[in-house]
Parts: sequence; C-alpha cells; structure tokens
Amino acid sequence: MTDLNPQAKQMADESMVRNLDAQARAIWPQEIALLRRYLLPEESYILDAGCGTGEGASRLAELYPRARVLGVDIVDQHLELARRRYAGLSARLTFEHQSVYELRAPARTFDLTVCRHVLHSIPYPERVVAELVRVTRRGGYLHIIAEDYGMLHFQRGVLDPSDFWHQVPASFGAATQTDLFIGRNIFGIMTALRLEQVAIDYIVVDPLRVRRETFASILEAWRDGYAEPIGELTPVNREAALAYFEQMIANVRDPHGYAAWMVPVVSARVP
Ligand SMILES: C[S@@+](CC[C@H](N)C(=O)[O-])C[C@H]1O[C@@H](n2cnc3c(N)ncnc32)[C@H](O)[C@@H]1O
Repeated sequence: MTDLNPQAKQMADESMVRNLDAQARAIWPQEIALLRRYLLPEESYILDAGCGTGEGASRLAELYPRARVLGVDIVDQHLELARRRYAGLSARLTFEHQSVYELRAPARTFDLTVCRHVLHSIPYPERVVAELVRVTRRGGYLHIIAEDYGMLHFQRGVLDPSDFWHQVPASFGAATQTDLFIGRNIFGIMTALRLEQVAIDYIVVDPLRVRRETFASILEAWRDGYAEPIGELTPVNREAALAYFEQMIANVRDPHGYAAWMVPVVSARVP
C-alpha cells in the first residue's frame, strides 16, 4: 500500500519550520502580484490546503483584509504553532486538522483555493488536485505552488550540483512514490480537468530577487532535514549529500556567486 505521507518525519521536523519561514520570505513578495490577478469578492472564503505552520494562510489573511481563510494540515504541531502565532487574526483565520485527499467542505465552497509546496511531497497529486477543484466554486481560482526539482541551477565547483539534482529527485521520488517533477507534470492534470485560464508562472529565487541569507537558509534547512533520507533512499550517500549542500550554500553566500531556483506557480479558473 502506498504511504500517503511518505515525508511525515521531514514535514514535522524542526528544520521544516525554518524552511517554511525562509521559503515564504523568499517567495511571497513575488507571489503577491500573481494573486492580485484573481477577481475575488471582497468577503471571499479562501482555503490553504496543506498550510503547514500558516506562513501562506496568514499572509493571505493580511493581503485580503475582509476574507476568511481556512488552513488545513495533518501535522498537529504545525497547526498549534500556526494558531499561536496568528492568534491576532483568529476572527478570520482558522486552522483545522484535515487531509487534502478528503476535505470536509461541501462542493463549491471556496473563492480561492491555495496549495503551496505540497504536491511534490505526496503520492497521487492528481487526486488532490481533483479534490481542490471540487471544493472551489464556479468562477473561483486555484493557485498552486508545484515544486520541480529539475529547476534548480547552481554553479559548478569541486562538485557539479547538476549531478546531484539529476540523480537525487528521480530516485527519491521513485522510493517514496512521489513526483518531484510535478511542476511540469501538473499542466496535463489541470488541462485534463478542463479548467479555464490554466497558467504557469515562475517565481525566481536568486540573489537578485531574494536576500542571499534567505536563499542560504532554505538550503541549510533542506540539508538538515533531507541529507539523511537522501542517504537512505538514493545512490547519493549522506556524506556526499552534505558536501553538495555545503557547496550550494557557499555558492549562494558568495557575493559574486549566482544560483537560481525556479518555482512554478500554477493557476486556473474553475468553470
Ligand atoms: C512543505 S510544507 C508546505 C506548508 C505551507 N503550504 C507553506 O507554504 O508554508 C507541506 C505541508 O503539507 C502537509 N501535508 C502533507 N500531506 C498532507 C495531507 N494529506 N493533508 C494535509 N496536509 C498535508 C505537511 O504536513 C506539510 O505541513
């Protein structure tokens, strides 16, 4: 039987809390312009599916000051942290334990359904997308950050990080029955569901758009949370994974260095 949450340990780890914080600081400033395109009612109802520690849900509640936002996740400690952190927004922002495979909302509930950084980490992403479509009202929008681990580019040093990104995501995905290239594969899932206005935009995490320290923090959190399972599940052992991460972190911290993580943001309108 397929484990529906093969990254349960990594998702609940302290390094993931750091990672979600750094990722939101890197990505959200560019994401706002993409969200602003959607025509939403003033008092809209927004779902953040797989909300983690509430980084996205809380920013959505701030961006749309009259909206109600529901964040759902299956890691209770993330939900508790989110409730504590954003208690000031609790009149409009709530967090519930729910699985994205089986949401409790009736069909056509939300004006905007957001799902950030989730689909690459779980099996059957197409089932989740169908569930997100189910709970979105006619004319409402889907906004999905679908990561793709073939879209990270670092400079070559003693090691060539291209070798790492070529080997690791493919074998990690095969071992966990997840698609670490969902960023390109989700297009076909969306078109098969006959959604309207399917678009893919890219947020670029690079030193021209994002502080070097923020980019480095993402890589450090990945190093701390993933070097071990990479060692267990892929041909790259833990020590080699650590060496690759250290080189990529140094590349990003080097004031003359350049690296880019292209993050696909997939959107569509529900007919
Ligand atoms: C990388 S985090 C992203 C968190 C958040 N969306 C953000 O942007 O900061 C992925 C989240 O998906 C959650 N998740 C995994 N499987 C899930 C499921 N079946 N239902 C709900 N959440 C799930 C994990 O617990 C984790 O908090």
